[in-house]
Amino acid sequence: MSAVTTSAFVALRPDLASVLDANLNAYQALADHYQETSAQRLRHAAQWLRDPWRGTPLRPAAAGHALDIGCADGAHAFLLARRGYTVTAVDFSSRMIDLARARSTPRPRGPRPRFVEGEFLGGEFFDAAGEAASLDRKFELVVANAFVHLFPKPADEDVVRRALGLVATGGMALFSTTIEDIRDENFFAKTRMNGTAVERWRGHYPKDDFLSLVRDTAGDAFVITDLLTADMRGKPWLTVFARRRHVNEPDRPR
Ligand SMILES: C[S@@+](CC[C@H](N)C(=O)[O-])C[C@H]1O[C@@H](n2cnc3c(N)ncnc32)[C@H](O)[C@@H]1O
Repeated sequence: MSAVTTSAFVALRPDLASVLDANLNAYQALADHYQETSAQRLRHAAQWLRDPWRGTPLRPAAAGHALDIGCADGAHAFLLARRGYTVTAVDFSSRMIDLARARSTPRPRGPRPRFVEGEFLGGEFFDAAGEAASLDRKFELVVANAFVHLFPKPADEDVVRRALGLVATGGMALFSTTIEDIRDENFFAKTRMNGTAVERWRGHYPKDDFLSLVRDTAGDAFVITDLLTADMRGKPWLTVFARRRHVNEPDRPR
């Protein structure tokens, strides 16, 4: 019998607080890297920031509020604002939030995004004046791009559950990650544009594992579909879309 059992693996998994600490340090150090890769990430976003049922770029039908969870330098938040959403964007890295707040943007259609600093699961956020800023509404669109995989199991489920809880009736959440051959999680190095590496916690999911994570957490209140794309380096990404059903909506996709 192998000396490494599932329970040994679980025992070796660090607690959530240690992971959050390590990841916060890592993303503080990675802020410049995100600013430098902004244009690449926006080109990839044109592929996945789409209505998966209609195939059209995601835009609010009328007035629409969007939440970007783990917004980094604000690239996607500004794109959503240009598309007409009123955007709230959260990140726990003060360096990322500073870059996002300082970002300039060509002719936004709506208001500038509101950037709030705080840890997503902890749920305490602060605005630019340092005042408490709660997420006290439901959103037509909730974006968690490259976010869920930063949490050790079972906190990844908590993140999906909390994000889904913020989706308005008829609204949509999207969750994305890279697709991997095997499921594992650990501290892995992320290499910056300047070639130096920083360690942060990262889960890897085969396609079906990530799809099941969202589908099982969402339950019957949501309709689920997914989309495969490739980023600028050819890495495969999976985006899972969860649309909250209207009351009495039949049990089938639109
Ligand atoms: C992998 S980056 C993804 C950035 C962006 N969503 C994108 O797709 O380019 C993850 C971002 O989430 C932030 N983040 C990580 N863990 C967080 C947490 N627990 N609460 C809030 N923000 C967090 C990091 O600071 C970082 O900016």
